[in-house]
Formats: sequence, C-alpha cells, structure tokens
Amino acid sequence: FGSFETLAIETSGGVATVTVNRPDALNALSGKVVEELARVCEVLNRLGGTGTSPASTGVHGTADDGAWPVRGVILTGAGGKAFVAGADIREMTGMDADQAEFYARSMHAVTLALETVPVPVIACVDGFALGGGCELALAADFIYASERAQFGQPEVNLGLVPGFGGSVRLQQRIGLGMARELIYTGRRIDAHEAHRLGLVNRVLPAREELLAAAAETIREIATKSPTAVALSKRSINQATGRTTTEGLDIEARTFRAAFGTEDMKEGTTAFIEKRAAVFPGR
Ligand code: CAA
Repeated sequence: FGSFETLAIETSGGVATVTVNRPDALNALSGKVVEELARVCEVLNRLGGTGTSPASTGVHGTADDGAWPVRGVILTGAGGKAFVAGADIREMTGMDADQAEFYARSMHAVTLALETVPVPVIACVDGFALGGGCELALAADFIYASERAQFGQPEVNLGLVPGFGGSVRLQQRIGLGMARELIYTGRRIDAHEAHRLGLVNRVLPAREELLAAAAETIREIATKSPTAVALSKRSINQATGRTTTEGLDIEARTFRAAFGTEDMKEGTTAFIEKRAAVFPGR
C-alpha cells in the first residue's frame, strides 16, 4: 500500500484495515487525508487487477495469481474518540469557493472509488462520525458501530451543508424524512437510534468486539465466491438511484456475467455433487 502520513494500513488474514490517523483533530478529513484515501482506494480497486479475468464480468482477479489477497476492508478511526469528526473545519476557513468545491469533489471521488472496491468495505464507527465522517461511513457497504458511536450531519451549525455525499446517501440509507430531519436539525444520534434507523447494521459493546465482528463477517463472506460477491456489489451500486426498469436491466446483465465465471460452474456443480464448493475466484 505504500507509506502514509495520515492513514495506518494493516493487512491480516485477508482483511485490510484502513485507519484514519489524526487523533489530535479527531481524524478530521484534511486535504492530506482525502489525497491519501484516494491513493488507498486506487490500490484497493486494483486488487487482482491483472486483467486476466473474463472481460465479460469486468471483475478482476484470479486465484492462480493470488489476486484476491484482500477479501474485505475495515475502515475505522484512530484514538478511541472518533471515527471521523468531519471535514477539517480549520482548513475550510482558509478556502475560497473554488477550493471548497474542489474539496467536495475530491471526497466525492473517494466515496465513489470506495463503492467500486471489488470486496466488501465495512465502516467500524467507535466514537464520533459527524458530517464528512458520517458521509465517509455511508460510502462503505455497511456500518457496524460500538455503543459509544455518535452520528450526525451538523453542517447547519456551521452555516454549511453536507458536502461529501450526505444529501444523497443518507436518504438512500434511512429514507427521506429522517435524512431531512437529521440534516436540518444537525442533531446527533447514538448507536442504537442509528441501528433502529437502518444506518447501522450491528451495535457491539466496544472497539475490540466491533473490529472482531467486522473481521468475522469478512471471513464469512470470504467462504463465498469472490466473483459473485464483487458482481453483487457492483450490481447493487449501479442500480442505486435508478428506476426499477434500469435496475433490473443492470441485474439481468450482471446475472449473465456471473454465468461466464468458473466460480458459477464450481458452485453449481458442488451443489449437485453434494460437496462444499472450492471457488477458483474467477
Ligand atoms: N475539523 C478540525 N478539527 C477538529 C474537528 C474538525 N471537524 N473536530 C474536532 N477537531 C479538533 C478540535 O478543534 C480540537 O483541537 P484542539 O485540541 O487543537 O483544540 C480537537 O479536535 C478535539 O476536539 P474537541 O476539543 O472539540 O473535543 P470535544 O470532545 O470537546 O468535542 C466534538 C468533540 C463534539 C466532535 C467536537 O470536536 C465537534 O463538534 N467537532 C466538529 C464536528 C463537526 O461539526 N463536523 C462537521 C464538519 S463540516 C463537514 O463535515 C462538512 C461536510 O459535509 C463535508
């Protein structure tokens, strides 16, 4: 992954953990963090990007060249107090409108790149996920939270609006009415309310259990066909925000692409032969 100033990256047992590491600023998303997240996403999107997989699937990777070394990503924050407390307010005070738009668009690129990573990305929120922090978490496939997690879009307190995707992804995740209320009030909600709203998939007691639960979910998914998981992710993301007809068209084409994979042959054959599938990952 290379070396980073504001991120810590660790890989173990097929799980890559990306930690935003600016605890003194509650992991706020400075320009440097955005730049480094973009670099990490580039690497994650090249996972298995050897171009040897069937072009029809568009999903990279083969088991032969060890191209699925990472089966899932955990995204978290350092310091024990925050996931990410948002955009960097100090840096923003020195920006003009052009620089602000560039800042927003750069983070949009990061969130879109996270959504195309061909393995699941789980945001583990332990502490504050506010503004840009909540928006970064929303770009993960799903969110797990610890008991002390706090979510919110407090931009209205600063005379600002969500800038890193919150006006789009929050309503997709929790519905229009609640998204409006959270954005207009800037109110913070705890992990349990976030769970009730469907913002968070699971609430765990504390950090250790949180990271362990996410790694366990990644290991569970890793027993499945990696091409099928990657294609499912792509299909869901491409269908989001489209009409039912467009979404179903995407699904039909993705279903077709799955039929071109060796994983599909192995999975269906293993079922007929009443044995466990051993997926080649292509
Ligand atoms: N940007 C820059 N620095 C930040 C920061 C941020 N978003 N959030 C916290 N910090 C810094 C503080 O300035 C402080 O630094 P110093 O020690 O140098 O003073 C340090 O982190 C610790 O923060 P606090 O002393 O404030 O900690 P606290 O426990 O009293 O409060 C908090 C915690 C409630 C999260 C509070 O820090 C806070 O409200 N932070 C700002 C949250 C926010 O408004 N986020 C949205 C930003 S705008 C945005 O994100 C727009 C967008 O959509 C793109």
